[in-house]
Amino acid sequence: MSALFGDDLLERPRRELAPGAVHVPGWLTLEQQAWISERFREWSAGPVPLRGAKVRGHEMSVKSVCLGWHWQPYKYTRDATDVNGRRVLPLPDWMVRVGRLAVTEAYGTGPDETEGYSPDTAIVNYYDAEARMGMHQDRDEVSPEPVVSLSVGDSCQFRFGNPERRGRPYEDIVLESGDLFVFGGPSRLAFHGITKVFPGTAPPGCGVDAGRINITLRVTGLRDTERREPEAP
Ligand code: SIN
Ligand code: MN
Repeated sequence: MSALFGDDLLERPRRELAPGAVHVPGWLTLEQQAWISERFREWSAGPVPLRGAKVRGHEMSVKSVCLGWHWQPYKYTRDATDVNGRRVLPLPDWMVRVGRLAVTEAYGTGPDETEGYSPDTAIVNYYDAEARMGMHQDRDEVSPEPVVSLSVGDSCQFRFGNPERRGRPYEDIVLESGDLFVFGGPSRLAFHGITKVFPGTAPPGCGVDAGRINITLRVTGLRDTERREPEAP
């Protein structure tokens, strides 16, 4: 009953943790979560498979697959040159719409103002019970537009810090299945990470049996470099 009528949301109000960093609990319906889980299985099958990116020779415990642009430490490319050289799947239109709705939800701006939000990449992460993500900034994008984050599956502890340094001050919050988190403006470059996953907490019906899916939508601000034909003599 409480899942159906969302009593838990009373204890988890929406909140601005820092200027521009907004947590909206229970934003996605169970049906939307289940649909995202199904898409996740399709994306993981390729053309570029789910993989742990190598950071300075160490494979990340979080596995990821990208859409639109492929992220590898510390750059975006169209082809997954660090995996199998294949081009990543395009970013679906529905994700651009979700991104706009999310930014409208977080900042309360009208549709006209958020129409300009056009994410061109999604990094889709999968965390098993042991996976973690150390404190980092999202700074491989050229654009200052916000990052939109969606969670499906097991809950986790999300550490959200400050733009100056990796350490304190930071705040630990729990992200649950269906939660939205947007960080932009003065919080766009805040350090953040995932310190724990809570196994067995995925709600029935969300489409994930074990583990956590996270999608971050971003605006890279990158352009394809066009190949120019030589000038006619
Ligand atoms: C990330 O920082 O890229 C992912 C954050 C998350 O998994 O919620
Ligand atoms: Mn990040």
